[in-house]
Amino acid sequence: MRLLVTGGAGFIGSEFVRYWLKNHNQDNIINLDNLTYAGNLDNLTNIEKFPNYQFIKGDICDAKTVNNAMKGIDIVVHFAAESHVDRSILEPSKFIQTNILGTAILLESALQHKVKRFHHISTDEVFGSLDLNSSTKFNEETPYNPKSPYSASKASSDMLVRAYYHTFGLPITISNCSNNYGPYQFPEKLIPLMIINAIQGKPLPVYGDGLNVRDWIYTEDHIKAIELILEKGAIGETYCVGGESEIANVDVVKKILSILNKEEKLINYVKDRLGHDRRYAISNHKISTKLGFKPAHNFESGIKSTIAWYQNNRPWWERVLKGDYQKYYASQYEK
Ligand code: NAD
Ligand code: DAU
Repeated sequence: MRLLVTGGAGFIGSEFVRYWLKNHNQDNIINLDNLTYAGNLDNLTNIEKFPNYQFIKGDICDAKTVNNAMKGIDIVVHFAAESHVDRSILEPSKFIQTNILGTAILLESALQHKVKRFHHISTDEVFGSLDLNSSTKFNEETPYNPKSPYSASKASSDMLVRAYYHTFGLPITISNCSNNYGPYQFPEKLIPLMIINAIQGKPLPVYGDGLNVRDWIYTEDHIKAIELILEKGAIGETYCVGGESEIANVDVVKKILSILNKEEKLINYVKDRLGHDRRYAISNHKISTKLGFKPAHNFESGIKSTIAWYQNNRPWWERVLKGDYQKYYASQYEK
């Protein structure tokens, strides 16, 4: 099989590329990524010389590049996106461009090239926000109710993917996953940001009252869910994927501090995110009963191995912290 992976130099996409080449070594992977601030070829150094791996630096919004990359492809796994909610508040237009237009260009090309499967990676944020005091979880029937420019752009891309299935018969699947964490995550996101600041003895900026809840899934479990969907999922279907670990932000931060043996006085409550979704929770009922998915990691084991990775890979994040990231950090946290 020949797979076109978009966004394979990012956090989750690179986990997929590393995992797939290790476990499906008869397959070929073409990784199409334009290396935005979040794309990092350091995530792929151990596989870059594999004969069945090829990297193309290119933009999913460029139809010519996409059509060239699509030649002879059996399966598209589409990760490429602008992925950070805070940046979507600072600059929504980039999200509309990449997440909506880029997905539309990929879908059209996949249709023209008659790919056997287009798998679209989406998010639980498309469903909106849940009350803190309810036990409701998102599932495949939950109506879309996105609240941020990021989630609105992902919801739009999901709708386009469904439209290409219903209108043109493109063989699609979609997964809507909860918050990922693990090695190689860009330090703008909660968990790596808090680990790195704690290691450096810097303040940990918790938005609002810190009681917002997220469901956390270890990246490798997300990749295994995608593998199950590619191998056994039904065409046209959507699968929700969660880590079965709902935790309040401040408890995530306290956990990190306690594992690193640092004091809680490093916690700094700061101005809340605009339109901050209160709670996400997602049901694994469909993917567990239909495809046999069960996350292998609980938060306790996943956060320990994630922290150990950041402790042992200091050169990786020290390089990332240089340059543009400093400007972003200052504009987000030091205004
Ligand atoms: P990321 O920001 O770490 O990586 C995104 C990658 O896409 C980068 O390598 C970047 O260079 C590439 N990219 C961006 N714009 C591009 C363009 N125009 N052309 C080509 N490549 C481009 O993101 P991530 O956290 O790995 O998320 C990957 C996907 O998973 C996204 O679609 C995101 O919406 C979805 N998702 C993320 C999470 C999460 O918790 N991180 C949860 C659920 C779903
Ligand atoms: O739910 C899936 C989504 O999870 C993905 O689709 C997104 O791509 C991914 O970025 C993530 O979105 P969140 O907004 O939930 O993740 P983030 O790591 O930015 O924030 C997690 C929570 O922590 C959220 O409630 C905001 C809070 N937070 C975040 C940062 C960066 C803080 O309190 N302080 C911070 O500095």
